[in-house]
Order: sequence, then C-alpha cells, then structure tokens
Amino acid sequence: MTNKVLYFVCVAVLAVQFASAAFGGVRQDDVEQSVETVLSRLTLEQKIGQTWQCLGREMVEPASGDMSGEKLKESFLAGVRAGRYGSVIGKWGVENYNAIQRAAMEGVGIPLLIGSDMIHSAVTTYPIPLALACSWDESLWERVAEAMAAESLLQGCNWTFTPMLDVALDARWGRIAEGGGCDPLLTGLMGAAMIRGLQGEDMTDGLHIAACAKHYVCYGASLGGRDYNAVELSDDTLRNTYLPPFKMAVDAGVATVMPAFHSYNGVPCSMNAYLLRDILRREMGFGGMTISDWEAVKELVKHGTAADEADAAAQAINAGMDMEMVSSCYAKNLATLVKEGRVSMKTLDDAVRNILRVKFRLGLFDHPEIDKTKVTAAVDPAANRALAREAAQKSIVLLKNEADTLPLTSGAKVALLGDVAASEWQMLGCWSTKDLSKFENATLLDGLKADGVDVVYTEAYTLTGRVDTVAIERAVAEADVVIAAFGDYWEKSGEGASSSKIELPGEQLEAVRTVKACGKPLVAVVFGGRPMAFPVLAELADAVVMAWNPGGCGGWGIADVLIGAAEPWGRLTVDIPRTTGVCPLFYSQTTTGRPVVIDKSNPFGRRFTSCYNDVEPSALYPFGFGLGYTTFAYSGERAEVCGDVVVFSADVTNTGSRKGSELVQVYVRDEVAKIARPRRELKGFKRVELEPGETRQVEIKVPVNSLGYFVQGRYVVEPGRFTAWIASDSDHGRAIRFSIK
Ligand code: NOJ
Repeated sequence: MTNKVLYFVCVAVLAVQFASAAFGGVRQDDVEQSVETVLSRLTLEQKIGQTWQCLGREMVEPASGDMSGEKLKESFLAGVRAGRYGSVIGKWGVENYNAIQRAAMEGVGIPLLIGSDMIHSAVTTYPIPLALACSWDESLWERVAEAMAAESLLQGCNWTFTPMLDVALDARWGRIAEGGGCDPLLTGLMGAAMIRGLQGEDMTDGLHIAACAKHYVCYGASLGGRDYNAVELSDDTLRNTYLPPFKMAVDAGVATVMPAFHSYNGVPCSMNAYLLRDILRREMGFGGMTISDWEAVKELVKHGTAADEADAAAQAINAGMDMEMVSSCYAKNLATLVKEGRVSMKTLDDAVRNILRVKFRLGLFDHPEIDKTKVTAAVDPAANRALAREAAQKSIVLLKNEADTLPLTSGAKVALLGDVAASEWQMLGCWSTKDLSKFENATLLDGLKADGVDVVYTEAYTLTGRVDTVAIERAVAEADVVIAAFGDYWEKSGEGASSSKIELPGEQLEAVRTVKACGKPLVAVVFGGRPMAFPVLAELADAVVMAWNPGGCGGWGIADVLIGAAEPWGRLTVDIPRTTGVCPLFYSQTTTGRPVVIDKSNPFGRRFTSCYNDVEPSALYPFGFGLGYTTFAYSGERAEVCGDVVVFSADVTNTGSRKGSELVQVYVRDEVAKIARPRRELKGFKRVELEPGETRQVEIKVPVNSLGYFVQGRYVVEPGRFTAWIASDSDHGRAIRFSIK
C-alpha cells in the first residue's frame, strides 16, 4: 500500500467513525431533540452545506438530463461526504440515489433530500393538474398522488415539488395547467389531498415522499398573465384569494414550501419576510422548510432588490428562505456574511433546523437508502395505468351535446380527424416524464379502436398548419359521425408558456366549417393545458368535449366517455372565456356598483354597466359547468343556520333516462360587507348518483366560520344577509336567502 492510499483509507475509516460517533444519539422518535443533536455537531461550512440544493446534471458524467444509470462524478461524491450539499435536484434512479446517500452517511452523516418535479408524472403520466382538478374528486387526487410517490422513489427521489397551489384567474398564464384552477377552496382541497397521498400517514414508511406547496404566493396574479411578471395586489385579496390553499396545505402537514419567482407589491417573494416569516411561519404555523425556486435567490440581483449575490443571500435567508435551489449565493457567501454579522448564527441555525426536521420526518437518518424491493413490490404498473385511465375519464368535461350526439351510437362509422387524435406525444402534458412506451400510452385513435369503434383516421390538418379540405370531405363522406381534435399543443402551456391569444391557432375553424358543410354530426375534442376561447367551434360543433392534456392513458379515457362506457364526470374548475380580451375572467369576480345588464337591445351589456362594446362579458362555459349523459332538476333549495353550520339542501332529480351523477355545488354571496365581495363563492359540493327518475335530498353543511373574509388583516364573519345558490354550476340556480345573527 502506498502512503497515499494508506492516507485515504485512514481518512475514510475516521470519517465513518466520526459519523457514527457524531450522530449516535440521534433518535427518530424525538425529532426536535435529534435536530439539536445534529446541529450542535456541525461546523459552519457543514451548516451552510445543508442550505444548498445543487444541480444534479452537473454531478454526473457526461452531464445529462436524466442521471439514472450515469456515472456519479467522484468530485461530487467527495462533496457529498464532506457535507457540501443538503440536497440535489434531479431524477437519479434508485442505484445512484443509494450511492449518494451511502456517501453522505459515510461522511458527514446527514442524508440528502433528493428532489424533482413529479407534477403529474413520475413513471405513469396522469392528466395535468388542471384536468385532474375537474374531477372534483378528493379520493382520486389522493390515489394519484400516492401512486406518484412510490413511482418517484423508483426514479430516485424522496421529495417532489408538488402540489402547485396557485389560484389561476388568467387563461393567458401558461402555468394555469399546473394547478387546480381559479377557486381557492377547490385548489386547497386538491392540494391537501395530494399532500396526504404523497406524504402518507407516516413519511418514514419508505413508500412516501415529501411534498412541496408552491409557488408561495399569488404567482397566478402576474400582470398581463405573463410568466414571472410582477404582482400588484391588495393585502385583502392576497388573504382572501391566494393564501387559503397554502393554509390548507400547512394544515395538511406539507413538509416544504417553495416561494415564487415574482415580486409581490415590489418585494420579491424570495426575500419577502412579510410573506415568509409573518404570514407563513407565525400566522399559519408552518414548521417545515422553505426552498427557493430555481436560481430565484440569484435573481434578486436582476429584480434590482439586491446589490450582488452576497446581498441576495443575506436578504433571502434573513427573510426566511431556508434552502437555495441551484444557484450558489448561500454556498459562496454565507460564511462571510455570518462572520460580518449580516446574517446571524441563529438565522442560519434556524434554516438548518428546518431542513433537518424534514429529513427526520422522512425517516432518512434511519433508512437513508431506498428499499428497491419494497418499492417495486408496491408499484403495480397495470394498476397505475388503470388509475391513469380512470383519472382521464374523470377529468374530461362534456361542454355541449346537441341532440344526444354522444354517446356514440353503437356500430356508427367514425371519421377521426386532426394530428393530435393520433399523437401519443400530445396526450402527455407539461410535466410528463415523456415515457412513450407504446405499452403505456394510447392515442385517441388507439382508444377508439380498443373500445371497438369502427373508426377511420385521416390527419387532414394539424393544429397550427393548413387544412386539406379535400381529405376532410373524402373522410367525412364515408362516415356517420366525425370526431375531430382541436385546441393547442401541450408545449404551449406550462412554465414560461404564456400566450397573448387563447383562440384556436392555425386554420382549425376552416376544418370545422368544412366538416359542417358536409352535413355530418361533429364531435370536437379539445386538447390543451389552458381554457381556450372557441365560441365559433362551440356554436358549430354538435358536441364539444374538453379533454385537456389527459396523460399517457388519455386516449382510452376519452374513448370510454365518447362511447358511454364511462359517464362524463368532469366539471370545469376555470371559466372558459369567449375571447382573450376578457382575461382575467373568473366566476368569483368582485361585485361592482354597475353590474352588467344584458337585454335584447344590448347583447353585450347596456352602456355604463360593467361590460365591453364588442363581446358578451359572461363565460362561454362557466366554472362548475359540465354535462352528463342524463339531466337533473333542482327543487326545494333551502339554507338553514343550525348553530355553527349552515345546512344547504335541495331535492335533486334525475330527469333523464340514464343513471348518472350530479355534482351539487353551493355558492354564497355576502350581501352587505365592509369590502365588496365576490358575486359568488364556492362553499361546498357533493356528488350524488341517481337512477333515472330518482329524487334525493342532498345536504351540504358549511361552517358559519367559513363565510367570513379578511379585511385589513383581520378575519371577520359578519352577521347579516347572504344569498346562496345550490346549483349545477356557478352561473345558474335559484337564489335563496339566509341570515347570520
Ligand atoms: C422552476 C419552477 O417554477 C418550479 O415549479 C419547479 O419546481 C422548479 N423550477 C424546479 O424544477
């Protein structure tokens, strides 16, 4: 043995001994005590290391987007041993994940958080979150998230940056695809269900992972719907519209929170002590860790609110940002900042405490490595594909169904048109793992064939290109009914993909008109990651189905609904506007002194009421809307205040000839308040399944306390008059009154 080799062996042995000696007293069952034990034995450099999430793809050879199977750089592993990183970002695969954790445990003795974006896909690609939201189904959200948790472990991640809780009011904003839509309550319910699914009852069980509530906060209110843009918003609106889903996430025990990229009233969220310390920690009681968005600490310099990277680091950590993603302002500057007193040791210690606490909650000190056998046994690919198909069925929203065009008559000859109808790729979505194995993915064409439909496919047009009218005429001549794919490609939504026009691109309307001129019924299936404006399509098509980006099994799910094997279950969680110019458009807009008045002579609204010269101000399809294959009628709507709850009830009758389920929704307006309040706000919902002709009394209980609102930072529930609607969407229903004493 050479002296050099002997030296390295000694260092390694000492390191292992140090690790076990250092953290021998650590106990998973006493997290706070264990956090203190670990913290007390860290050097300044090691503490700073905990606050850095480094970029995985720079740590493998060759640098790549997917680190599973790649060779880990020795310099990276040495850094892990030395405690230079608290976390890494990327998908590593189990072997590399375990190698990283082994290095960590051999060295500093603190396992890493290994995180990635499993937004609607880790292995199986489920529908995008906006689509999933339309199921209004907490059990489905939880089951999808739980399946993604185990699949994420197979990708080598113990942490995901999900759920996105940004209330999105503006269809131009590309990231509307990633969240639950425009309603705070629904977004919060979906987020809480996903957190339960991802984290499980006990994150130490080796089958669950840490969740991350993002992007904190009001990112969806960016000016002009442009991504990363500034947000100017009153404190009341912040609290009444944007904070509630985050509060629900904190109450659900979310392990981590990611502040957003943008500035809120001039102060970037990444250095906003009001948001991070006063509200998130003190008011909401969040005890987990915060992680910046990608290079968001460094971007404080570009915001013009930090002089340089050192200043950015000081401002971010002092405001309550515990860990920095990718950029290295903390890693490079915190030692000096602490020595200079610009960052106190207590501030750094608190950040490290928050990080260690999550590692303990995940059970990483006891089980740093992923037990591949256990996780593989828990992941049933066939069951997950069945779940993805169910999720697609339940996400689809039937918007129009003239003359019962759907479900398809059995034996009908179908002409299927449009590039997206035969594209596996376009079934996916903005955060899919892009796994295109045929086994897993189905196009709409595959789905129709698998469901036994007599279908002939002709591309005839692409969403953004020319229309081959002759091909359409030829295809349609042979068919009884036409199914055609419209909308936009999924790449046009998601992060950094805002649009100034949300109308159908290309010559899609030419395709619609050509089909119509042939005199055959047209079923339009609209794909995309945002609500689009398609009034002409809605008028001309006989049936319209909003399919969103339905995921790898989406083709099967859509076909199931088209043939009637699954009922149209989805209801909108956003409003569909008539044109881009009305954005942001959302059902819960604040009341005005001049509400729009529409009458025969003023179809767009009477002048000097709140309207436009040239378009109806209402939604083409409102929040909550969605048809089934049967119809329902409401009667006997009532609201009764019983102690601290309001009991809303209605008799709901299935007036059609098929069994079906109705999503009964409760909306409330506070008639006299200190500040103008939303014209309607969702307060509860319940799904009821009824046989033809059956009537059931549906009861929905809403806590009186949830009828309040924030004004000047204070939550008030005011006595007085309220109006409620128990209805099938946010635009209809009979107004009923009740009072809070
Ligand atoms: C930037 C995105 O805003 C965020 O949602 C994501 O989690 C991070 N990048 C990490 O990829």
